[in-house]
Amino acid sequence: LHVVVLMGGWSAERDVSLSSGRGIVEALRGAGWSRVTELDMGRDVAKRLEELRPDVVFNALHGTPGEDGSVQGMMDLMGLKYTHSGMETSVIAIDKELTKMVLVPHGIRMPEGRIVESESLYAGDPMARPYVLKPNNEGSSVGVAIVTDDGNYGSPIGRDVEGPWQKFERLLAEPFIKGRELTTSVLGNETLGVTELKPVAGFYDYDAKYTDGLTVHECPANIPDDIAAAMESMALRAHQLVGCKGVSRSDFRWDDEQGEAGIYLLEVNTQPGMTPLSLVPEQAKQRGISYAELVERLIAEAIE
Ligand code: DAL
Ligand code: MG
Repeated sequence: LHVVVLMGGWSAERDVSLSSGRGIVEALRGAGWSRVTELDMGRDVAKRLEELRPDVVFNALHGTPGEDGSVQGMMDLMGLKYTHSGMETSVIAIDKELTKMVLVPHGIRMPEGRIVESESLYAGDPMARPYVLKPNNEGSSVGVAIVTDDGNYGSPIGRDVEGPWQKFERLLAEPFIKGRELTTSVLGNETLGVTELKPVAGFYDYDAKYTDGLTVHECPANIPDDIAAAMESMALRAHQLVGCKGVSRSDFRWDDEQGEAGIYLLEVNTQPGMTPLSLVPEQAKQRGISYAELVERLIAEAIE
């Protein structure tokens, strides 16, 4: 079986994807797979895939266009089999606003978001502080800012203050959910438990995600059983409602003063990270599924 591991690309998460991709290639080679090709995606990706004509593509891309349905649609047209979610699911899940439109009517609690023009922030806050600003379709906390009560970016936000408003024309604003940061993976139709992320300083931002020692991962999380069960059931429903395939990871905030009513789903990740510090492999391992087994299961599902 010839596997192409598709990685890299030109998104803001290029480096994360290269790290995921290299982990996957190494795991496959270590498990005795002989026909494994690494492909760092460039604009010639369709031509390269046509030349290689693999039996299956392992999609190790993150962000745009590898996680937003574009690459999935291209591979559909080419008749290629690939891991993880298909085009329509990817289109929904990369778009945090669209994800809310799909999930909230089904009773899945998510923060009430609003898309704002970045320019409008210099005139005043779009909602009461504290709130979160983030690009609607990025990952790894790229471009996330938490605007707090003490006016950390100025009040109103200063035009010359460094932040995502300088780089993105529009941003998603959401009330900041105080409390705790948790995540749940769904593999096939099974949840893999709940992990709590405790950054040693600040919030779970890009550096805290990818620098060893900057975040304590509590896996499984030290939370009441009913809260863990509620989160896992929300993650599984979200996975199914959005139509995920292979694996997904749902990220949560939990206001622990509110009990079950304080659980908020933030988003569903269809191309969750596979780096040495990533959460899906860590949860899988905790369940007795090695990194290599995880990779092989995703391939098996893609070609079945
Ligand atoms: N966007 C990163 C890769 C993640 O969700 O793990
Ligand atoms: Mg994400």
